[in-house]
Amino acid sequence: MDDQQNLKAEAAAFALQYVRSGMRLGLGSGSTSAIFVDLLAEKLRRGELENIQAVATSQGTAARAERQGIPLRSLAELRQPGQPARLDLAVDGADEVDPHLNLIKGLGHALLREKIIELHAEQFIVIVDESKLAPRLCSRVPLPVDILRFEVESHLDWLGTVADRAELYRLADGSPVVTDDGHYMALCWFEGGLVNPHALAERLSARAGIIEHGLFLDMASKVVVAGQAGVQILEKNHG
Ligand code: A5P
Repeated sequence: MDDQQNLKAEAAAFALQYVRSGMRLGLGSGSTSAIFVDLLAEKLRRGELENIQAVATSQGTAARAERQGIPLRSLAELRQPGQPARLDLAVDGADEVDPHLNLIKGLGHALLREKIIELHAEQFIVIVDESKLAPRLCSRVPLPVDILRFEVESHLDWLGTVADRAELYRLADGSPVVTDDGHYMALCWFEGGLVNPHALAERLSARAGIIEHGLFLDMASKVVVAGQAGVQILEKNHG
């Protein structure tokens, strides 16, 4: 494991202490979440945790959890009569975290399902290595956006008027990223980062053809940051 992977593993391991037996859990996607899923499975196998029900935020995470015997449910299966589904806790990585605990997510292609599931969590804990911290969102990474395949060029053209640059998100072999739900994705660059992420989120949400964007604003309850100097917890309203 390289240094960054080690730090991701530290953040994932730290977050496990928030998991209690009997919890309904949202399982994130990406490499940090994958480590969390593996550590969770290990605890279940050792009998240190029991009666966990989990909802996965991507097909990849579902396959990983299933292989290791983590009981998976849909949100619908967790509904109580007359009440919307509720998760006790969701744990996921992020691509960037600002000082207000707002996030960029989705470079791992799963932002739509992540947002759907994580909106249902009473506590949403984000696990990152310190390279993900930034003074402003989109300082270092582009914003991923899920877009409809129908008339895809027109969505990219419009995103190019909102961002400094927008292009189709492609895999290393040049083929477009296709999400678990069959959508394409765009990457949008903003020079100097976002001054007003809330205004941008509203604008993107109002546009036909934009399915969802990777701005996860006011959602995280805590961010577990693993760095060379140890693990630091950033909490909502505590700076
Ligand atoms: C998946 O779509 C993303 O939101 C991931 O949570 C994010 O890309 C972080 O990924 P890593 O944990 O692999 O850095």
